[in-house]
Amino acid sequence: ETLRTVAAARNLRVGAAVNDRALETDNGYRDKLKYEFNSVTPENAMKWGNVEPEPGVHTWAKADAVVSFAQENNQMVRGHTLVWHGGLPTWVSDGSLSDQELRAALQRHVETTVKRYAGRVAVWDVVNEVLAEDGTLRQSIWLRRLGPGYIADAFRWARAADPSAKLYINDYNAEWNNPKRAGLYNLVRDLRAQGVPIDGVGFQTHAMIKESASEPLPLTQLRSTLQLFAGLGVDVAVTELDVRLKLPVDESRLAAQGEVYRRAAEACLAVARCVSLTMWSLTDRYSWVPSSVPGWGAAHPLDENLAKKPAYLRLRSGL
Ligand code: XIL
Repeated sequence: ETLRTVAAARNLRVGAAVNDRALETDNGYRDKLKYEFNSVTPENAMKWGNVEPEPGVHTWAKADAVVSFAQENNQMVRGHTLVWHGGLPTWVSDGSLSDQELRAALQRHVETTVKRYAGRVAVWDVVNEVLAEDGTLRQSIWLRRLGPGYIADAFRWARAADPSAKLYINDYNAEWNNPKRAGLYNLVRDLRAQGVPIDGVGFQTHAMIKESASEPLPLTQLRSTLQLFAGLGVDVAVTELDVRLKLPVDESRLAAQGEVYRRAAEACLAVARCVSLTMWSLTDRYSWVPSSVPGWGAAHPLDENLAKKPAYLRLRSGL
């Protein structure tokens, strides 16, 4: 049994972020991706800086490779991400465009990208990380230059470009930070009330096992959070699950990590509108964690040799 077969029986999409270098070069990795998952998310390949490094110059090869792989293996694609403060090309982030030009560039980016993959990308993270920790809108280039209407605009542009794609807002820390959860909840509620085409809310769920064994394990509120948002009439998803450990790895930390993966699976399964559960890497061999959070790592279900960790086994048993 794989994650994929178990999840399919539950009518759930289980996914992984795809590292584009690994997809090209690592057969063992490709096999795991193919057999263990029925959904994939390009980890970086669809970010604006990667698909349009110079204005009007598109480089789709890496994004196309993820989409082709998914089609060959009968997997869903979660497109990630159209509007974000990170991953921008320099010509967008360097402040050289006027407000009007910036808005036009964003609209063109959303339309071009969504149209290109219409029918092949089933779900889009339309806006990513638009909230601050206190629940107000993040002071990003988009808010400062375009005003708060950029969020509704982005959803409308995406809907027009592919009416069949499911459109999500995606963020982190709303799983446990009350002000951010409230801000996200109110934002989604208000957007829906205004008729903005938003179909789902993605919870990144980047979790960690604290150093001291006496700290309670995270994700105690994941289930109730998913349920709360489902009450707004939208789908919900766990979009970037990982559970980092303070290095070095030891058995008790691996066991605790396994328990957190199991919790995530159970939380999603307990909520009827939780449609997918995606890991932000399937393996410690390729991981954003050690370089982003020095001293931490080993955050994923498979180890550096692609062997199953307790996290994998507990995750599968939770599904
Ligand atoms: C990260 C990737 O994993 C890294 O490889 C890249 O250098 C930076 O972005 N939230 C998100 C993801 O929505 O896009 C981020 O991905 C991780 C945090």
